[in-house]
Amino acid sequence: MAPLYQAINVQLQEDVPGSHTVYRAVADPEWTVAAVPNGGYLLANIVDASMQFQASAKSHSDPIHVTAHFLHSTAAAPFHVRVRVQKRGKGFTNLVAELQQNGKTTITSHLIFGILAPPAGSSNKTLAPPSPYARRVPLYRHPSTAPLELEKIRDVYKFRRYFQCTQEPEIRAKATLDSPTRTNKTTVGGGGVEGGTWFGLTDRDERITTPSLALFADAFLNIPLLIPKSQPQALRWGWFPTMVITLEFKFPIPPPSKDHASRTVGMFWRGNFINDPQGRHETYVELWSAPSDIGEGIEVDGWRDNQVCLAVANQMSLSLPMEVNLKQGSNDSAKL
Ligand SMILES: *[C@@H]1O[C@H](CO)[C@@H](O)[C@H](O)[C@H]1NC(C)=O
Ligand SMILES: *[C@@H]1O[C@H](CO)[C@@H](O)[C@H](O)[C@H]1NC(C)=O
Ligand SMILES: *[C@@H]1O[C@H](CO)[C@@H](O)[C@H](O)[C@H]1NC(C)=O
Repeated sequence: MAPLYQAINVQLQEDVPGSHTVYRAVADPEWTVAAVPNGGYLLANIVDASMQFQASAKSHSDPIHVTAHFLHSTAAAPFHVRVRVQKRGKGFTNLVAELQQNGKTTITSHLIFGILAPPAGSSNKTLAPPSPYARRVPLYRHPSTAPLELEKIRDVYKFRRYFQCTQEPEIRAKATLDSPTRTNKTTVGGGGVEGGTWFGLTDRDERITTPSLALFADAFLNIPLLIPKSQPQALRWGWFPTMVITLEFKFPIPPPSKDHASRTVGMFWRGNFINDPQGRHETYVELWSAPSDIGEGIEVDGWRDNQVCLAVANQMSLSLPMEVNLKQGSNDSAKL
């Protein structure tokens, strides 16, 4: 039962030089979706362990890309992260990290580390404002004045008391049945559903950190929840376990300042397909720096120019009845 900065609690257990390093942590029972720890929260612990591993290797200290496959659900209990080097190159280091509980690997992941900045002496190839090709913050509201989201934080998120979200009425309007973004036989492409919010940690001791981006990348409302109830694909009381997630880090987190919040990120996501088997669906997520924390600061001209995309994620998740979650949670706990 702890805020995020304490709930990500990785510690060195054993270093076997030339082979691997083992870290230990405890999955906090509050960072769960119903009975099962949130996949992004577990991934945050894997990223943290891998960053500690690279810090002690004194090379390539920044995570650049993470792919994780979720093999079994992990219980809210102690676990280990076993990290080893797969390849040390000049520009990048490839790691393999496995989350293990009771001798079973529940998550396996590959990570690429490097330096999140242009190499010294090279020309700067970054595509960013004011280039007319630059991607811009995809949220309509400023966090100081955006309406608070009260109903949409699902009570199955046991950690919901640690954060607050804002509404994006313009984005929500695009999900309605009468939106001009609906499709028919004359439209080209289009379809799918989008979501967006400012996501802020409320505890004043919190800071957004590189590992915590893994949690934010998995904290969106899945598209079966955003589709109107009248549609057969809509699901209101469901569990959406992640099977595979990829997370690519784009820009370093800007230090807190008058232009950048310390505890808030912008989240934008979109999904196009829901398929068999098991309501499988893909979600594309962008995480952005925020100009202020929620309900704080003031909207100044040009705030959009100062924001950067922190990470882009993609994931494949399933749509399962909530009963499956509750059963897995209780079964795993019973075994410990
Ligand atoms: C590279 O250019 C981008 C976009 O203009 C800028 O944000 C970044 O600070 C630059 N990096 C360096 C090292 O100059
Ligand atoms: C198809 O959808 C577009 C966009 O919503 C709308 O403008 C058009 O009238 C629709 N056509 C038909 C035949 O329903
Ligand atoms: C608990 O898990 C075991 C396999 O790990 C399975 O055989 C058993 O049916 C499960 N029990 C319940 C109540 O789901």
